[in-house]
Amino acid sequence: MSRRTVCTLCFSLAATVATCSVGQTGGPDNPKKFTLVYNVNNAGYIDVCGCKHKEVRQGSITRRASFLKQLKATGRDLLILDGGSSLFALDDRLKDAERTEAIRKAKLIVEAYNRMDYKAMAIGPFDLAGGLDTLQTLQARAKFEFLSANMVHKGTRQLYFKPHTVIEVAGVRVGVIGLTLNTMGSAFLAKVAPDLEVTDPIEAARASMNDLKGKTDLLIALSHMKEEATFELAKKLSDLQIVVDPYIQYGNHHTWIKDDEWVSFKDHTLLLRSDGQGARMGVVDITLRESQKPLVLEARVSELEDSVAAKSATAEEKAELEKSRGKNPFKFERISLEPHHRSDPDMDQLVEEWKKNIDPQKVAHLESALPRKNEYLTVEKCKTCHTKQYENWKTTKHSHAMASLAETGDQHRYDCVGCHSLGYGEAFLDTSRVGSFADVQCESCHGTNVKHADDPKQFQFSKVQRSDCIVCHNKEQTRNEFNYATAKPKVQCPKS
Ligand code: HEC
Ligand code: HEC
Ligand code: HEC
Ligand code: HEC
Repeated sequence: MSRRTVCTLCFSLAATVATCSVGQTGGPDNPKKFTLVYNVNNAGYIDVCGCKHKEVRQGSITRRASFLKQLKATGRDLLILDGGSSLFALDDRLKDAERTEAIRKAKLIVEAYNRMDYKAMAIGPFDLAGGLDTLQTLQARAKFEFLSANMVHKGTRQLYFKPHTVIEVAGVRVGVIGLTLNTMGSAFLAKVAPDLEVTDPIEAARASMNDLKGKTDLLIALSHMKEEATFELAKKLSDLQIVVDPYIQYGNHHTWIKDDEWVSFKDHTLLLRSDGQGARMGVVDITLRESQKPLVLEARVSELEDSVAAKSATAEEKAELEKSRGKNPFKFERISLEPHHRSDPDMDQLVEEWKKNIDPQKVAHLESALPRKNEYLTVEKCKTCHTKQYENWKTTKHSHAMASLAETGDQHRYDCVGCHSLGYGEAFLDTSRVGSFADVQCESCHGTNVKHADDPKQFQFSKVQRSDCIVCHNKEQTRNEFNYATAKPKVQCPKS
């Protein structure tokens, strides 16, 4: 296939270099140990995640950096990987007004990952939100690889990024393949990357595995795809020992992964998952006894040994124990990034510098260019004619949504203000001057209708609908269920 010809050359060369410097794994008597740390769906997060209805909020890159240092200090050799959709918040093309800030934040994430010593990241749909060209400039700043074995130029069939890489950790040669969702919407792709074609992931993975043949001890696919596709991958390519799967994004609809979903097996392949937004991470201590052999949970082996010792093992259990002998044991730990991980001074400084660097003049310029800036009348105008509805609104929590943010010092956060104010992104951008746009206002629910005030009879509002609420009452973000039928009576306005 012509698609591969360009890259096979340079990448197999890189892999050959690695082969020369590393020997085989030492066999059962000389196992090698390293620790895989991973997260998926960081979704543009640098701070703690979500709404503050939990007493303890999780995540933030400063805690992550601090935790990784703690982990290194235990003497472990770390291999840190990201499963993709990490640099931007949404798989939607950025609006012009948001672009500059979002790209600046993506650069911060890349720099933070450089300092935390990430080795590779798969490319997921969110990573394309700033456009393919932006992603390429971000790759140039990164000291780690952006991987995708199936993103090619429609015409030339050349790959845009490296398909795979070989990383040596504690004497183990780990091959890492990146795979990108091949069912992204054509409208989205047309906007972010008109020349991009995302090819069949299984074929791409197979080609990568051919390239990597004999050059690795362990093969990991960062498979940023839907669950069914990941399952098929594990089934068809059974030499893949580990697949990192973006479960939350495509596999299920709950926002938190249940304990027993973090680690599972699909045939011989170990499937690893994590929550999004950098809230929790997976830590996998691997003891590699035999190159290219599947993994087995150490705790399961002990369990089987115990029941054999107690002479209570069934025939199946005995067979399972026998099979596990040729496999590589691992331990798993789920890490929740909570306040006890403290912060990392280096990362704090990076974030501080980034925050200060918001150029007020630049923002002012962007604000004056906001196309819908003058379409928002704000509550100050509405209340002049609708006293009754205004008085009622004052009694709802919507009317002091900004004060809720201020309680935790989060009132200037770009990732909070959007749902606790009116018109962020369309009417204002500078979160340090929210002013008359503070709180969830009349137009947050009713929409804008700028001529209404001049001629209410002719320019009427349309009925409020559930879809007006779930813009903010979004379970993915708030982690709370929203029931329109029971919520509406609590906040709807009285009749005139
Ligand atoms: C996607 C919209 C959205 C975003 C973004 C958002 N919130 Fe909220 N927030 C809500 C909604 C809706 C509620 C109402 C209660 C609920 O459903 O959780 C709420 C309620 C709250 C409350 C009051 C009730 C409580 O649970 O304590 C606080 C405080 C709060 N949010 C803080 C934050 C902070 C801090 C951020 C940024 C990290 C943030 N929110 C980002 C939508 C959002
Ligand atoms: C612009 C974002 C936004 C929109 C749109 C929105 N809400 Fe809210 N809602 C919030 C936030 C934020 C809070 C929490 C405010 C706080 O406690 O600080 C909230 C709180 C609430 C509460 C608890 C209020 C109380 O006084 O106990 C209800 C109920 C509610 N919203 C229903 C709705 C319904 C129904 C709609 C649509 C008709 C809607 N919201 C539209 C952001 C929004
Ligand atoms: C949480 C969402 C929400 C907010 C905020 C809100 N409204 Fe309403 N409002 C409703 C809903 C729901 C209705 C019921 C009619 C409908 O379904 O469209 C309504 C009805 C009305 C009506 C028509 C009353 C009638 O006679 O039938 C007026 C006028 C009105 N709102 C004005 C306001 C004003 C002014 C504000 C701000 C002070 C405001 N609303 C804030 C949701 C909201
Ligand atoms: C100059 C006075 C005035 C102002 C300002 C005003 N309204 Fe009205 N509004 C009215 C009148 C009068 C009606 C009743 C129209 C009718 O009889 O159909 C009305 C009706 C409504 C209704 C009922 C649905 C409809 O369109 O008939 C809603 C909702 C509403 N207004 C929301 C708002 C909101 C939100 C604002 C602020 C953005 C606002 N109004 C500002 C005078 C005003």
